[in-house]
Amino acid sequence: MADDRSAQVPSGTGAADRPAVPAGRDAPGHPGTARRPATVTEVRDACRILITAGPTHEPIDAVRYIGNRSSGRMGIALATAAHAQGHRCTLLLGPTDIAVDSPVGLRRFRTAADLAVLLGEEFHHCDILVMAAAVADYRPALLLPGRPGEADLSPGTPGRPVSGAEGKIRRMDGPLTLVLEPVPDLLAAAAARRRPDQTVVGFALERVATAEELVRLAREKLARKSIDAIVANPLETMQSASIDGVLVHADGTVERPPRAPTAKDDFAAWLIRVLAARWSAGNARPATA
Ligand code: CTP
Repeated sequence: MADDRSAQVPSGTGAADRPAVPAGRDAPGHPGTARRPATVTEVRDACRILITAGPTHEPIDAVRYIGNRSSGRMGIALATAAHAQGHRCTLLLGPTDIAVDSPVGLRRFRTAADLAVLLGEEFHHCDILVMAAAVADYRPALLLPGRPGEADLSPGTPGRPVSGAEGKIRRMDGPLTLVLEPVPDLLAAAAARRRPDQTVVGFALERVATAEELVRLAREKLARKSIDAIVANPLETMQSASIDGVLVHADGTVERPPRAPTAKDDFAAWLIRVLAARWSAGNARPATA
């Protein structure tokens, strides 16, 4: 688990305190399998929203890592908006210095592996997962002497395993080759195990020339990961206070906030409203009284 997992607060989203969920949506690929309530007498508006935010730091040694420029600002804004709108929110936050002022359930991660563990614990408690975290696609696996062409990369070759716990790699004469291994797609994995009553939303950061290209790439990513919706935003969003984002749903619809680009706080408030309204419409619950 991450060294900097300092701010753990119970999420308060345990399954015991929720009513049974009559799902309103068919299981993917299985039409007609949704458990629909006979009569809908009450629609519960508040839902449990799990948000991931910030970068991952993948260690090369005890003092070095591979990271990315994500600030976590968008995900923190989403958590703040979710709380302000009366939802129960848990925020899984990567290494960032940005403060979280909102009283949400906060758990910290450092690496993609840490985040995978937290998702394993938290995902089944949520109604909506929003993966705003910039998760690594590759992490250091092996350190070998020599240039890539010179280093023996064949399987079974003894190399120095990379681990954050093994101290600081010393300066050596000559080059080193750092071998990266793929990181599992956490979003796709969550989507693959979601219940019919859970909504899984991703973020896609794309370098694009046009708004049409942004939507096209988002649709491809959404289909590849089998998720319910994706927020597509251009590269310029990173470390910016505003976002020129668009929400693409699996049913093909595309939604945009009233004004663009939008301050991240305003975009967050809009996105939470849209996602919660969609979730409530698809998951109407009978009155429990
Ligand atoms: N994501 C994830 N696990 C990873 C990488 C990304 O769960 N190992 C999630 C991110 O949190 C985000 C979504 O996948 O919600 C899209 O991330 P992005 O980096 O835009 O896409 P990739 O899947 O990495 O594809 P590409 O690098 O081709 O853009």
